[in-house]
Amino acid sequence: MREFKTDTIPLPRSDVKAPQELFDLEIGCGAGLHPILYSKSNPTRTLVAIERTREKYDKFLGRFNRHGSPTSIIPVHDDAIHWVTHRVAPESINHVFILYPNPEPSNKNQRFAHMPFMAFLVTRLINSGKIELATNIESYANECLEHFPKYGLRLVDQASPTKPGRTHFERKYLDRDEKCFNLTFQKI
Ligand SMILES: C[S@@+](CC[C@H](N)C(=O)[O-])C[C@H]1O[C@@H](n2cnc3c(N)ncnc32)[C@H](O)[C@@H]1O
Repeated sequence: MREFKTDTIPLPRSDVKAPQELFDLEIGCGAGLHPILYSKSNPTRTLVAIERTREKYDKFLGRFNRHGSPTSIIPVHDDAIHWVTHRVAPESINHVFILYPNPEPSNKNQRFAHMPFMAFLVTRLINSGKIELATNIESYANECLEHFPKYGLRLVDQASPTKPGRTHFERKYLDRDEKCFNLTFQKI
């Protein structure tokens, strides 16, 4: 396993600090449908929702504002790896969502199963905290099933998302009748 060297990771652009209380984290929330749906069904949980791309983040912010700027959502425009590395204390995250990450077919090191960052992310989870990853690519799901256990995670749930879907990408795939995979791992 390649070592994750925190001192090589750029500082976050965003000034947003991590919450003082335990929180949930969404990496790559895109246009932000899932954060809004999640806050409606989990109004007492704090979700830090991070999106790196300006255009997507602006759409997320528009949606967030139209829904009354729920205080349970903390929007962050940044690279999640930079923000988590420098802003998050050990054992302070309950649940991580990684929903439809970029497939990166020709860049293995950018796929979550192979990222040294995964080992660091697990140190930020509380004991028994969870990482939930969804994808429409079976080989991507299989890589996670194979490699996540070496980061101290065990599979606790494996489901096929159903319509209407929680994110824009999930809705697109389910509307095309593509199979999606939702894997939930727990920190051992
Ligand atoms: C395929 S899209 C999925 C978006 C959304 N989760 C959905 O399912 O509709 C992946 C998103 O992750 C974002 N992303 C990729 N790497 C990221 C990172 N390191 N930090 C923050 N966002 C990231 C991309 O900008 C993109 O918006």
